Amino acid sequence: MPADTAVGIHDLSFRTGSLVLTHEELGKHTGASLSKYHEGIGQRAMSVPSPDEDIVTMAADATRPVIERHGADRIRTLLFATETAVDQSKAAGIYVHSLLGLPSQVRVVELKQACYGATAALQLATALVRSDPTQQVLVIASDVARYDLDSPGEATQGAAAAAMLVSAEPALVAINSPSGLFTQDVMDFWRPNYRSTAVVDGRKSLGAYIRAVDAAWHDYRERGGLPLEKIHTVCYHQPFTRIAFKAHQQLLQSAGLDGDDEAAVDEAIAPTTRYNEIIGNSYTASMYLALASLLETGSALDGETLGFFSYGSGSVAEFFTGQVRPGYRAALRTDAHREAVARRRPIDYATYRRLRVQDLPTDGQRHELTHQALGSFRLARVQAHQRIYEAAGRRP
Ligand code: HMG
Repeated sequence: MPADTAVGIHDLSFRTGSLVLTHEELGKHTGASLSKYHEGIGQRAMSVPSPDEDIVTMAADATRPVIERHGADRIRTLLFATETAVDQSKAAGIYVHSLLGLPSQVRVVELKQACYGATAALQLATALVRSDPTQQVLVIASDVARYDLDSPGEATQGAAAAAMLVSAEPALVAINSPSGLFTQDVMDFWRPNYRSTAVVDGRKSLGAYIRAVDAAWHDYRERGGLPLEKIHTVCYHQPFTRIAFKAHQQLLQSAGLDGDDEAAVDEAIAPTTRYNEIIGNSYTASMYLALASLLETGSALDGETLGFFSYGSGSVAEFFTGQVRPGYRAALRTDAHREAVARRRPIDYATYRRLRVQDLPTDGQRHELTHQALGSFRLARVQAHQRIYEAAGRRP
């Protein structure tokens, strides 16, 4: 393959849970002021999966339009990034592979490193495509973010799946070298196998995230990366959108630029936060929802260089850039994304609380789930310790 052949994101599609809890509704229970939620953490609502939805159904729903548009003939690898896996052994991507009828001649693997997993998958995918540009790789990021009830993290929950088709001569964004990397063993956020909710030291996690911005940026520059002035907009991992403001201030400072002009920092990140502020933290998918927001709502970006800061607690971080491809707008899925957000059914706090304490049985008994999912696929039942998924058809 010629050294200058572009490789990157050819298509990007996301879906989210079918229910939505607003922070106004949450605040009625927690007593927190709306301004703390809206301005303090920059969140207005969180997606909540219905009981018959999970990372697999959201992922299949997000990926279906990608396959419909491009077919599956060239896909040789499916990389599924998640930190809320439904199984300790089987890759969630195999369910997606089956639901979408993908060819058997595909390798399917699941990757984990907190919210960073999808970026690892994207980098592996670009390397695979560079080694054989006739191939395409499906990268899927899907997560349900859950914290303990009545904990500070609860207000930052969310759920979404992003599907990306990685190919040579991509329609949306070519991924550039070099990357800036930073790994540090830190217990800021983690989830032991026996827990369904994360354990988090909120303050520590904020410090670890911001330090990682500085460290990954310096590594990026030392490896010959562009000066920040050449980067149009940076998409940050957004566990809550206000963090992008602080991260961008840090990046400006790390690059020796002025981070004190708060209005300018707000303006720089605003186009990237529109989906995440109403969906919440979608862990691995979050930064790619920031990219969708930017491409769909920002000014024309043809030929511009974008920056990406990916962070996964524990922790691993990466700073890299991508080049927006001329004519990218023709490949966007703006209407479908807006519809996926708009169709969510609002729930009150009591309903949310009821859903949170309902768990699937773990005794192997058959358990049918009522059809509530609004997407194309649903979890129909569990039986004999298996999750049985099906195409959703029409809701009764
Ligand atoms: P908290 O205790 O609810 O909130 O925790 P707070 O008291 O720190 O207030 C938050 C902000 O709101 C503060 O702003 C307040 O001043 C402001 P700051 O001082 O930081 O600039 N505030 C107000 N603003 C306007 N009007 C008001 C008002 N009151 C207060 N009335 C915390 C917040 C983020 C710690 C919590 O939500 C949490 O623990 N979240 C989970 C952890 C997290 O998201 N960490 C982020 C970095 S780690 C990461 O990104 C990885 C992750 O995605 C997981 C993974 O990698 O898998 C989480």
